[in-house]
Amino acid sequence: MLQLCSRAYDFDFEPLFRTFHDATHILGYCDGMLVSHALWVTRWLQCNDRSPMRTAYVEAVATAEAYRGRGFASAVMEELASAIADFDVAALSPARYGLYLRLSWQLWRGPLFIRTDDGPRSTPDGEVMVLRLPQTPSLELDAPLSAEWREGELW
Ligand SMILES: CC(C)(COP(=O)(O)OP(=O)(O)OC[C@H]1O[C@@H](n2cnc3c(N)ncnc32)[C@H](O)[C@@H]1OP(=O)(O)O)[C@@H](O)C(=O)NCCC(=O)NCCS
Repeated sequence: MLQLCSRAYDFDFEPLFRTFHDATHILGYCDGMLVSHALWVTRWLQCNDRSPMRTAYVEAVATAEAYRGRGFASAVMEELASAIADFDVAALSPARYGLYLRLSWQLWRGPLFIRTDDGPRSTPDGEVMVLRLPQTPSLELDAPLSAEWREGELW
């Protein structure tokens, strides 16, 4: 898993993986070999000042290079979406959009913030996509969206 992600992203995933305390992994196999992966951790995203949403926050979407373009990541993401149906919403920070747009993820258009002890910290360089789930409350994609501070990658 670690090796697959480190190779796909071309950096050592070990320190980042250590910050994911409650990760649940979805694994994609081909002929018994691990070829694709995604995980989610729980975060609390908040739209405006509404109640924080229990969020399945997706990380480390990766397919081994030789197996790309064959639908493995799409299949892993579809399996992931059905496994998180009891969350309020799903979110991720995309490196590319096409894969997720095709799977009904939407780009958040409003400003992004990280909640810290010193108040909300603007993160203008961040990008977030969300996936509506059966329990997702009505969302205004142009509204401010915040997440709690965490170590490692903020979004
Ligand atoms: C992004 C990544 C996970 C995609 O994995 P993948 O298994 O190739 O994904 P899929 O095959 O499901 O979809 C990839 C493309 O192949 C196409 N595809 C899917 N099934 C296909 C098939 N049977 N035949 C041909 N093409 C197919 C999809 O339309 C998609 O097109 P796109 O490039 O326009 O989005 C992979 O390229 C990767 O690991 N990249 C490095 C890490 C990274 O950037 N991760 C994403 C962070 S957001």
